Amino acid sequence: MKRLIISLAAVILSLPAMADEGMWLLPLLKGQKLPEMQALGLKLQDYDIYSPDSASLKDAVVIFGGGCTGEIVSPDGLLLTNHHCGYGCIQRHSTLEHDYLTDGFWAMSREEELPNPGITVTFIDKIEDVTDYVKKELEKNTDPNSMDFLSPKFLNGLAKAKAGEKFLQDNPGTEVEIKAFYGGNQYFMFTKKIYSDIRLVGAPPSSIGKFGADTDNWMWPRHTGDFSVFRVYADENGNPAPYSDKNVPLRPKRWFKISLKGVQEDDYAMMMGFPGRTNKYYTSWEVAERRDIDNTVRINIRDLRQKVMLEEMLKDPAVRIQYASKYAGSTNAYKNAIGSNWAIKKRNFEQVKKEEQDKLIAWSNKMCEPNYPDALMALEQIVSDRKDLRFRSWMLDEAIIRGIEFTNVPTKTDAVIEALKGKDKKAKDEQLRLLERAYHGFANDNYSADVDRKIAKVMLKEYRRQVAPKAQPAYFEQIDKKFKGDTDSFVDYLFEKSIFGSEDNFNKFLARPSVKALENDPMILFAKSVRAEEVSLKDSLKEFEDGYAMAHRSYVKGLLAMYGDRANFPDANFTLRLTYGQVKGYSPRDCDYYGYQTTLDGVMEKEDSTNWEFVVPARLKELYAAKDFGRYKAPNDKMPVAFSATTHSTGGNSGSPVMNANGELIGINFDRNWEGVGGDIQYLPDYQRSIIVDIRYVLFIMDKYAGAGYLLDEMEIE
Ligand code: ARG
Ligand code: ASP
Repeated sequence: MKRLIISLAAVILSLPAMADEGMWLLPLLKGQKLPEMQALGLKLQDYDIYSPDSASLKDAVVIFGGGCTGEIVSPDGLLLTNHHCGYGCIQRHSTLEHDYLTDGFWAMSREEELPNPGITVTFIDKIEDVTDYVKKELEKNTDPNSMDFLSPKFLNGLAKAKAGEKFLQDNPGTEVEIKAFYGGNQYFMFTKKIYSDIRLVGAPPSSIGKFGADTDNWMWPRHTGDFSVFRVYADENGNPAPYSDKNVPLRPKRWFKISLKGVQEDDYAMMMGFPGRTNKYYTSWEVAERRDIDNTVRINIRDLRQKVMLEEMLKDPAVRIQYASKYAGSTNAYKNAIGSNWAIKKRNFEQVKKEEQDKLIAWSNKMCEPNYPDALMALEQIVSDRKDLRFRSWMLDEAIIRGIEFTNVPTKTDAVIEALKGKDKKAKDEQLRLLERAYHGFANDNYSADVDRKIAKVMLKEYRRQVAPKAQPAYFEQIDKKFKGDTDSFVDYLFEKSIFGSEDNFNKFLARPSVKALENDPMILFAKSVRAEEVSLKDSLKEFEDGYAMAHRSYVKGLLAMYGDRANFPDANFTLRLTYGQVKGYSPRDCDYYGYQTTLDGVMEKEDSTNWEFVVPARLKELYAAKDFGRYKAPNDKMPVAFSATTHSTGGNSGSPVMNANGELIGINFDRNWEGVGGDIQYLPDYQRSIIVDIRYVLFIMDKYAGAGYLLDEMEIE
């Protein structure tokens, strides 16, 4: 392929990516970055990391579940990922008697490992550049407005055709996928092997695995042992198979060696994993849009909602448990949005992107390439035209759909109504049973109608303050018509009158089911109206999407043409990437400096037995007092906990293996610092840090704290 034969010198000369910036695709690594990686300290060759024909480090890196990364650390399929990635599994196995979230869990033999239906682990067997193939297929469609170039359905159809039915049939658990890169300028096909018998082996208590919880989330210095341990099982031939007690531990192609040597400032470090989504190729207008609409709406609305939630959680321990996970989820994206706006302003991303655009325009004029400036004009216009719709859509989503839980009451009542109208008693009972199940799916153990009511009042008031009456869901008219604009009375009315307003209301309905009650139920009407508004906004916004995607593709194509298409990396799209850099601290502000490594000393400093986020378990305190750190301690006799590195990571990189210059595992990535989340738009060399739990802490907790040292026997530790 001609594209590949760009000389290295030309690539390096035209490099727009800053040192340490980048989420690199493995097949391109050799041509793009290997010399720089080696100059920085890497002792490996490209084929040690990625080789199309033989086992390489990439074979030990997997997708864990739907949005995390994991790594294989033993020839018996042992897997490490984050505690927050295994959280759902740990929670599902927890009961009041066996509260694994609180106390941790350790299988003391393989028989005790716990299956997790629904959880998968995905290996990437093969990565191929299929750009020419896809482009040829795309050319067959003569419709200039076709969106096939980004359509997963179309692309995966091509992938299947390319792989062949027979190949897929002969290889159970194997799937193929083609994904678009650079906005649809390049395509790669991934052959994946998906295992579905994944068992929980161990997890520390949340007081270690989630130490610091929401307060410390997105923060450095950090003291969290954010890891959990699983094992991949396969049938006796090593193929993916659903859970069976006959399955055996997977014999993987590769597993990571583990290094206890630890890290020093400026040491080479690299990470492989599955970064989910970035927006490196935003134009200046999209930066402003993200700041002024997306992030701003999110910050303002969640601020209001979290205040109410927290107040209720602090008042009532039962509510605290019910809403802990919702609160954590809410603040996670909220803090991210604040960090993102901080960086956009601090580093003037709008200007940075504008300069890039101006450069492209100047270059295009010189090269007589009017398409690229045209694409920029189109993008500017689209962002301006969709402004109101986007604002309404974000307001509806944050304040109403995510904000008010009863927006999710069951609304599909046609079948119930039909059964109620009919004479068939069995059908009637069956439909009512289904409705009851749907109701309890919504009003589950983690739902408090009281809290929902309080939050709804605040959300509705704010929504109506910011969104024009005509731009609201139709049913909201009732607030003015029936309640003289008094949202509180309206919300109270919903809870009093709806069959979903309380258990009591629902039971009354069950005792005397009536068609009229269902047809006129105010929460159902509310929810339906909100959904209708959501669909209508989505449809209106969809009109901009196609034009946007085409202009975006053209803009990125221009940048690739200007810089040389080997010089840059595509936005994250949850495909396997490598990022490299150095172990480093940073200065968040003038005259303030954070070091690169935290230790158990810091855990003890943060300890607060009156605050659930900072409780330290007794056993950990004992080990600390006795300085019983075994072979895991650092040369200065301290017990390392976490370290920070300049690697360019994002959401999805959670659980990613962090390696030293020899490719040995030195840590598990789990977060970024607040000042660094803007790196999703523009890498910030002096601010952005990945937050990584030190592998020595992981092994120390397994061995010394949990007494599960037998697990270390199957690892290769140096
Ligand atoms: N901020 C990390 C990541 O996005 C960790 C999230 C889990 N921890 C938490 N306290 N919510 O997504
Ligand atoms: N905590 C993130 C994750 O869950 C990682 C990040 O955003 O840096 O993937």
